[in-house]
Amino acid sequence: MIYPSLFFTQAPIVLGIFSIPGESWVRKDGRNYGDVDAVIVMDHIVMEATALGLGTCWIANFDSIAASEIIGLGKDFEPIAFTPIGYAEPKDFKKVRKTLEEIVVYL
Ligand SMILES: Cc1cc2nc3c(=O)[nH]c(=O)nc-3n(C[C@H](O)[C@H](O)[C@H](O)COP(=O)(O)O)c2cc1C
Repeated sequence: MIYPSLFFTQAPIVLGIFSIPGESWVRKDGRNYGDVDAVIVMDHIVMEATALGLGTCWIANFDSIAASEIIGLGKDFEPIAFTPIGYAEPKDFKKVRKTLEEIVVYL
């Protein structure tokens, strides 16, 4: 089981983004950027899906061992994030957002 929630297991499509650390760009100080590249890809997918009127939910808290075993891409591939994609049920709650001042540091 990669992720147990019904909105994940019952979604018509689930996308998984994997990095290949052995092929990723590495900064001079040794920092491997594979996971960064992977989340950029996922972020673009989420934004495009949203623009098309589809629902997504970024899933980081998945079972990475199960993901690797079930999808079977091999040990060179690291699962980074998943998202279900589908038409979401209507929401009946109002989102509470932090203000810009709460999340941005101005120097
Ligand atoms: C980095 C990251 C990881 C997340 N992982 C999970 C997850 O494992 N399970 C889950 O139900 N939602 C996960 N979420 C989704 C959040 O719980 C939340 O639903 C979402 O960020 C709401 O975004 P919105 O307020 O912009 O719609 C994650 C979100 C982010 C940004």
